[in-house]
Amino acid sequence: MEAKKLGLVLGISTIVAAFTMVLHLLEAPQVQHALLGEFNFIIPAMLKGASSSGKYQQGKAGVLLPNLTSCHESMGRSDLPVYCCPPMNQSDVAFIDFQFPDPSLPLRVRRPTHLLDENYIAKYKKAITIMKSLPDTDPRSYTRQANLHCLFCTGAYNQQHSNSPLNIHRSWLFFPWHRMLIYFHERILGGLIGDDTFALPFWPWDIPEGMVIPEMYMKAPFFHEARDISHFPPSVVDLDYSCTAPSSDDYGCFESGLGPEDQVYTNLVMMYNQMVAGAKKMELFMGCPYKAGEGGSCNGPGTLELAPHNTVHKWVGSNLNPGSREDMGVFYSAARDPIFYPHHANIDRLWEVWTKLHGNKVITDPDWLDSSFFFYDEKLLLNKIRIRDVLSITRLRYAYEKVDFPWLNNRPRPSVPLEVARNVLKTRQNAKLQRNGRFLDSTLRTRVNRPKVRRTKKEKDEEEEILVVHGIDVPEERYVKFDVYVNVVNETLMNPRFREFAGTFVHIDPGVIRVAREANLETLRKKTDLKLGISELLEDLEADGDDSIWVTLVPRSKGCINATVDGLRIEYIR
Ligand code: C2O
Repeated sequence: MEAKKLGLVLGISTIVAAFTMVLHLLEAPQVQHALLGEFNFIIPAMLKGASSSGKYQQGKAGVLLPNLTSCHESMGRSDLPVYCCPPMNQSDVAFIDFQFPDPSLPLRVRRPTHLLDENYIAKYKKAITIMKSLPDTDPRSYTRQANLHCLFCTGAYNQQHSNSPLNIHRSWLFFPWHRMLIYFHERILGGLIGDDTFALPFWPWDIPEGMVIPEMYMKAPFFHEARDISHFPPSVVDLDYSCTAPSSDDYGCFESGLGPEDQVYTNLVMMYNQMVAGAKKMELFMGCPYKAGEGGSCNGPGTLELAPHNTVHKWVGSNLNPGSREDMGVFYSAARDPIFYPHHANIDRLWEVWTKLHGNKVITDPDWLDSSFFFYDEKLLLNKIRIRDVLSITRLRYAYEKVDFPWLNNRPRPSVPLEVARNVLKTRQNAKLQRNGRFLDSTLRTRVNRPKVRRTKKEKDEEEEILVVHGIDVPEERYVKFDVYVNVVNETLMNPRFREFAGTFVHIDPGVIRVAREANLETLRKKTDLKLGISELLEDLEADGDDSIWVTLVPRSKGCINATVDGLRIEYIR
């Protein structure tokens, strides 16, 4: 009874707030015309939102929602306070439940950046120029759009009914949240030029034609100052880009040194590993299950988030900001660079591709499906949208133009003949991990036992063999990257082009714990487990019959000096 009353009160206040908002909008001359035509649509939508506002307060135990009234300093960096909160008080936000676009609308077709024509570029240019001219009080403005990423990626909101910050990286929230972000961004851009077929482009850095910074992003208004000049075209992107070798004294990142052709080949093999060989089960690709509440947080990104997602962020960012390579290289500032959006459109597209490659697999946990976020649309309405709403891009009325993915057949080969490797490995001494964590200040090599050998094909299809690097502890504000190799003879020659490569750990600065402490928040710092699928790798290395394998962790960043790992083990995932 009490709950119902509360719901009613909240419902009424939401309606009042909604009407106030409509009236407010009607006063603004530039949107008046558009709104008059939509008036009938908006009111029922708002009433519907009002009637469901009780849900805003409840939520099932594991379902995540941000508390929009809790905005605080972002955990961007320690030396500089970063605030991304919207300018007005967010305590009385009226929202509507997300409604699918009319299914008879034409699809917005997202095209690859290298195939865009002048007309399209002119349209996009116009839209982004208008967006950049809007004041910060308008949620459609470029600054507010970029700040959305800052807010959710550096824990500036808490979860509802909790002191824990909400963070959408390094877990299964990664793909759906970014899909929502760019979906509404695209609608807003279209709205600003009155074109409801407007679609964002995608930057296909996974195919040879897309492996340089797209030409249009080298010109205003898509150009951005804070980028690494040495990576301008024709420099080929390094999808396994590593910053600061542990031996170097400066914070500079180090270049692969590969010629363009070798770099393209290595990138394709890397893609094969991240999309196919290393991503055979849901959690490996999507990331760990992150649920509401203090105990529910997890810290385990999926393959594609680690790389190329994180590595491309770093590769684009400026070397003049050596610590974190702002703007693209760190989350609070990344979305200020216009290239962020086609980068994420490609991530979004690859989620689609992966889903299709793996038999339309989708997470069925209701805690994931019902986790919800809030985004403004082109009509300035705040939408509450659930993850289950964004699982079909057709229902969202957009599509990706088909491109071939040559990486699909780039199964890597071992670096040395397998008999040679076998003989060398036989004579090797074991270096045990120390008990309370082992510093990653230098290459770490150890033997890991395998509980099951020679499983049948059926068993392998059902249960993927996982190499777990567990208890990775990353010090505050450090960029940590290390690669993991299996049965390697000579580490110094290794890179992801060889079959010994099992995967990489790429950790973009996790945010500043000082902020969490001062605001009395549950800290974001949590040890990470890196899970790598290795069934196919073990077959290719003919190691499937061995009861142990050699695992080598190769530090690829200076931050590794203070990072530790607790150990390694084999597990199985269904
Ligand atoms: Cu939220 Cu590409 O990052």
